[in-house]
Amino acid sequence: MSIRVLFLGEIVGRGGITSVKDALRPLRQARSIDLVIANGEGATGGFGLGKAHSMQLLKLGIDVITGGEKIYYKLDMVEFIDKNPSILRPANYPQQNPGRGVRYLTVGEQKVCVINILGNADFPRTHLTNAFILAQHLVDQARAEGAIPLVQFHASPTAEKLTMGHMLKGKAAAVIGTHSKVLSADATILEGGTAYITDNGRCGSQMSVGGFDPPSEIDKQITAVPRRSLECWDSLELVGVLVDIDDEGKAVAIETIRIPVEGKEEHTPCTNESP
Ligand SMILES: [Fe+2]
Repeated sequence: MSIRVLFLGEIVGRGGITSVKDALRPLRQARSIDLVIANGEGATGGFGLGKAHSMQLLKLGIDVITGGEKIYYKLDMVEFIDKNPSILRPANYPQQNPGRGVRYLTVGEQKVCVINILGNADFPRTHLTNAFILAQHLVDQARAEGAIPLVQFHASPTAEKLTMGHMLKGKAAAVIGTHSKVLSADATILEGGTAYITDNGRCGSQMSVGGFDPPSEIDKQITAVPRRSLECWDSLELVGVLVDIDDEGKAVAIETIRIPVEGKEEHTPCTNESP
């Protein structure tokens, strides 16, 4: 039996959560989506994922939340992540770290394996297992267990993500890049049935700097004075990619999704003032 998987882009702040709240359930029903995977490491104010927000996102219809270099930013998540197998941290953190980087689950009649990997470059404060060696190992292991490997690759350079896609083509059913928070225009099916995109964008404000208020980001660039990034609510959208996987575990289609959301919740508009 074929399955349809939605990979949502990084959920940034309350605008991102509102986008999920308003648009995910109708989309899930309208497009007969079997599994929803989302990067949630910026759901709490853009920096980390608090326990309460993680539970809210799971209730809103996300099946597996993936992380990246910000997964431990909120202290209550450091404790909670061990208790909830639906929240992943990168698999290449030290094995004794809180949480896990792989989630096996059954979708319809198919066994799938969601694998969360952090890139090698640009994350200097971590000492990770090599992303490529580990990804290859975990994908092979998933196939050996009869599961369809779905790789969420949280990495910075586009070349690193493309390299991962090509290394795993014909092995993983999907290699979906995150972290840049900008939807890239290269969604494709690689040889052997691997759905690939360099970055699946962000859920939340599109008229912003990665979901943040532009004036604050401009000020930071000009002055080098540290200041808090502010959440932005301008042009909310639910963003991601839909991937169809056939009964042999190969991807046959990938489609980018952008759904504008009104965002009826009360919110503070973009402002240049610090809270
Ligand atoms: Fe990140």
